[in-house]
Formats: sequence, structure tokens, C-alpha cells
Amino acid sequence: MTIATLNDPLTLPCGATLPNRIAKAAMSEHLASPKQSPTRRLARLYERWSAGGAGLLITGNVMVDQAHLEAVRNVAVKPESNIDHFREWAAAGTTHGNHLWMQLNHPGRQTPRHLNPSPGAPSAVEPVNLFRRAKAFAKPHAMDETEIARVIGEFASAAAFAQTAGFTGVQVHGAHGYLVSQFLSPLTNQRSDQWGGSLDNRARFARTVLSEIRTAVGDDFPIGIKLNSADFQRGGFTEDESMRVLRMLQEDGIDLVEISGGSYESRVMFDKVENQREAFFLDYARKARAEVDLPMMVTGGFRARSIMQDALSSGALDVVGMARPFTNNPHVAQDLLDGRTATATDPPVMPGLGRLGGSSQAIMSFAQMRLLARGKSPTLRFGGLGALLTSLVQESADLFKPKRP
Ligand SMILES: Cc1cc2nc3c(=O)[nH]c(=O)nc-3n(C[C@H](O)[C@H](O)[C@H](O)COP(=O)(O)O)c2cc1C
Repeated sequence: MTIATLNDPLTLPCGATLPNRIAKAAMSEHLASPKQSPTRRLARLYERWSAGGAGLLITGNVMVDQAHLEAVRNVAVKPESNIDHFREWAAAGTTHGNHLWMQLNHPGRQTPRHLNPSPGAPSAVEPVNLFRRAKAFAKPHAMDETEIARVIGEFASAAAFAQTAGFTGVQVHGAHGYLVSQFLSPLTNQRSDQWGGSLDNRARFARTVLSEIRTAVGDDFPIGIKLNSADFQRGGFTEDESMRVLRMLQEDGIDLVEISGGSYESRVMFDKVENQREAFFLDYARKARAEVDLPMMVTGGFRARSIMQDALSSGALDVVGMARPFTNNPHVAQDLLDGRTATATDPPVMPGLGRLGGSSQAIMSFAQMRLLARGKSPTLRFGGLGALLTSLVQESADLFKPKRP
């Protein structure tokens, strides 16, 4: 068996080849125009990341339905979208020969109330409880068959649109408590029809989305999915169920599965849970490798080059995913690949918000992306402060805006 290194290419089942094993995981940039279109700034951010060495860049979540946004400045694919703006983004993000995949998402119940007072979800469960601010989110309605079919169609047509615009692949966001993962979890999916109940039924939505995308984009276009190793909530999607979904994906065929975990209500994607070593979901990945033969990317907490290399050479994964350090240093992947850097660094914890742990660094990441997008360095000096304040105002407007009358 040849031992993979970070610099080795990886050929995916569809035939496409990633030039190396480091991927920038999706980070919602919140840099779209007020009409949900990609902007020049977004393109500039991706041009910088494309020069930064990662073999695969995955965009922040792009919404497949403009009425269902995760944040006010999300990019969305809509019937009247101007494809030229997406072409510009795709061209900028592939300048240096890397892959650029569009992450496709529908937030389901995880959409702020002021953006959607009646979110569609598998079941009419309680509103999202984020930082105990339940009022920031509305109670969802249970989607009917027509709505489910429409959303599946929207995923497929958004994927075809991404392909036409020049993105080199797509990833379905099936993690972190958004719609696809709401279908998977028994906490949020309480249906008794073909979309709920048994795991086979709860996985039907994800599997149908993926197969409709395959039909739309053809056989040689990469399709990935981001999946939770578990919800980390009592009564939720378990590790055992997640493994069984991996077996289903192996049966169906998929180019890359990215492993993560958690949701708005259990934010383990940003922090170590007890007894974890540096990388959050590595133990799960090792178990999964014994069960399935699927190209696998693991994201969450990877920082040290030696740990990334060990994970690759032990066969625990095929691609190392990393997010927050890319906002601190757009060249972090090349620095790791060339051995110039031994450890990638996170954005600083925001003053006064240290108790939020990794979520505080996530908020800082928005500020750093805003600076990079304006062609500046990701620092926290004067310019950084401005970006930080702007992003804080925008993020808190999304989360804490009062209920609509
Ligand atoms: C600012 C920010 C935005 C994020 N947006 C997304 C997103 O749109 N889609 C997604 O799958 N994950 C998203 N994530 C999660 C990351 O992809 C990743 O799973 C998480 O940050 C853990 O990886 P890290 O420890 O390397 O940062 C986001 C993370 C951050 C910090």
C-alpha cells in the first residue's frame, strides 16, 4: 500500500482529480449582494484562496431557494440569477488550477425569523434554540409532498447551474442541522410517511437529492455531501445511524463524503468534545473506514501538519478539511504543503466572547473574510476593527432582530 502525503493528488470515482489533499471547508461568507448575487468582493476572496494552494475550495453555503436563507447576505441560485456573476466567481476561484465546488444548502428550520417567518422543515417541531434565543427563529411548518419535490428539484437545478457557471463540482450540505440533516434526525423528523420513521425513510431525502443531482450533471462531475458523524443531542441522529448512511452512500455512489457534526443547538463543529484529540471527528473516521470504502474528508480542528499527515498515512481519511485558519492566512494550505508552517493558526478569539469558544473564532472569521475580500490583510488593527464591527452588526441583525409584527 502506498502511503498518501498531503501533496499527493486524489482521483475521485467520477474521474476528476484533486491536485492535493488539503481542502478549504465551506464557510458562509455573507458577501452576496442584497439580491443574493455573488459580488466582486466574493470573487476577490476566492482568487486569493485559489492562489493559496488548497487542492479543493468548497464555497460557503449557496441557497437553493431564495425564500429560505441562512443569512441575509447568502448567495442564492434563483430563476432570474445572472449567471455572469457566478461565472466571474467560478473563474476567480479556479485561477490556479484547484477544484472549486459550490456547496448547496437549504436551511429548513435554521433560518432567522425575520428572513422567514414560516420555514419549511420535515416536521412542525419547536423553533431552533440558539444561545437560548428561541424567539430569533420561527416554528417551522411540515413540508408537504409538493414542497419536498420542489426543493429536491431546486437542488438539482442549482447543481446544473453551478456546472454551467464553471464550478468544478458540488457538495450538498447534509450536516449541521440544516434541511438535509433535519430529515436524517429523529429529533426534527417526526413524519410517518415515506420521508420519516425508519432510517431508510429519513435518508430518502438526501439520497433523492443526490441522485437527482447526478441525473442533472452527468457522470463525470464531482458530487459530495457533508454529513454529521452524529447530532450530539439526546434522541438525535447517532453515530451508528451515520455509519449506516455511509453504507447507503457507498451503494449509491458518491465522490467525496465530508465528516463533521453538530447543529445550531449543539455546536460541536467548532469545538472539541471531551477526550477528543486535535481533530474532532477522527475517531469516527477511523471506525467508518473499517466499514465502508468511500473517499472521505474530515473537517474540524485540524491544525498541525504532523497530525494531518498521520491521519492521511494511517488511512483514516483521504482529504484534510480545514476552515477557520484560511481566514487568518489565505496561503495556509501552501504553507503546510511546502512545510513552511507546522501549525495553522485560528483567528483570534473575540475580546469578551471567549466563553463562546470556537464559535467566537467563527464570528471573527466573518470579519477576516471581509478584509480579505477587500484586498486587505487579515489583521485586527484599525481596518480589522471596522470589518469586525460591520460583521458583528450584520450577524447580530440576523440572530437577534425582533419578531416581525
Ligand atoms: C464563519 C464560518 C462559516 C461557516 N459556514 C459553513 C457553511 O456554510 N457550510 C458548512 O458546511 N460549514 C460551515 N462552517 C463550518 C466549517 O466548514 C467547519 O466544519 C468548521 O469550522 C470546523 O472546521 P475548522 O475547525 O477547521 O474551522 C462554517 C464555519 C465558519 C467558521
